[in-house]
Amino acid sequence: MKVTVVGAGAVGASCAEYIAIKNFAAEVVLVDIKEGFAEGKAMDLMQTASLNGFDTKITGVTNDYSKTADSDVAVITSGIPRKPGMTREELISTNAGIVKQVAENLIKHSPNVIVIVVSNPMDTMTYLTHKATGLPKNRIIGMGGALDSARFKYRLAEALDCPASDVDGLVIGGHSDTGMIPLTRLATRNSVPVSSFLNSEQLEYVKEETKVGGATLTKLLGTSAWYAPGAAVSAMVQAIAGDSKKMFPSSCMLSGEYGQKDICLGVPAIIGRNGIEKIVEIALDDAEKQKFTESADAVRKTNDLL
Ligand SMILES: NC(=O)c1ccc[n+]([C@@H]2O[C@H](COP(=O)([O-])OP(=O)(O)OC[C@H]3O[C@@H](n4cnc5c(N)ncnc54)[C@H](O)[C@@H]3O)[C@@H](O)[C@H]2O)c1
Repeated sequence: MKVTVVGAGAVGASCAEYIAIKNFAAEVVLVDIKEGFAEGKAMDLMQTASLNGFDTKITGVTNDYSKTADSDVAVITSGIPRKPGMTREELISTNAGIVKQVAENLIKHSPNVIVIVVSNPMDTMTYLTHKATGLPKNRIIGMGGALDSARFKYRLAEALDCPASDVDGLVIGGHSDTGMIPLTRLATRNSVPVSSFLNSEQLEYVKEETKVGGATLTKLLGTSAWYAPGAAVSAMVQAIAGDSKKMFPSSCMLSGEYGQKDICLGVPAIIGRNGIEKIVEIALDDAEKQKFTESADAVRKTNDLL
């Protein structure tokens, strides 16, 4: 499998590193607009190959899409990240132009590619990628819910004082501080509802900390996080590579599912060789339905800025 990662910054490089360490891809091509940057990141990562025991070949190029030809998967991380105090939505004026141009370049050289969009505001950038490329809707996936769900499980594990591997849970809705919906009602510890262990106040705390998970890290780091985002993207790329049909909440173009149309929003999706193999419709209660509608309305407002 050949994977292109556009943007060799914090998230792009972390994603390339996890892909290589998991050793499932033959080739990763890093692309950046900054002269020599992707080449440098690729060389640095390749010098870890003998230490970390991987055979994936990582190369870097400056804005040369001919080197990305025939990629199976392309990840778009190019664009600016937020600074403390900023919302993801504030990035749209810079990132929309970058994502559109990158998406067009990618499909010129890899017409059969599956695109994973990471750049923020991610749901709107995923929508833009659909409009700019016209690719079938199964071949464009927004990464947000996989990360938000990992952050949800981290907070649940902290509250439960147990390993995160004991916890299951998912976050749907928009990838924004106000739009995401951590589904505490459905979260479990080894199949036991978390409400058996945590009271409503504790669950509310977990929910709120999950929603501001990105903002908390941006405040601590001075820029947005990269390890968990990189790991989340690499897990999705691995699911495509292995056709594993693993379920990740992902930003998918909806055509009536969850009562929404012509919008990309986070819903549980089965990921495999064809990208989005299936959108899973789960029964939401009235409060969750209401939140999903509000989240969709907010994403539509951001889409209108395009
Ligand atoms: N969806 C998510 O869950 C999630 C999580 C974390 C970060 N993000 C987003 O991912 C994006 C990248 O974040 P980061 O921390 O890696 O930023 P970064 O600044 O470290 O890296 C971005 C890279 O993109 C490059 N770039 C800019 N324009 C380009 C172009 N036209 N072509 C190729 N490369 C170009 C820059 O030179 C830079 O190296 C941001 O928009 C951030 O908000 C999303």
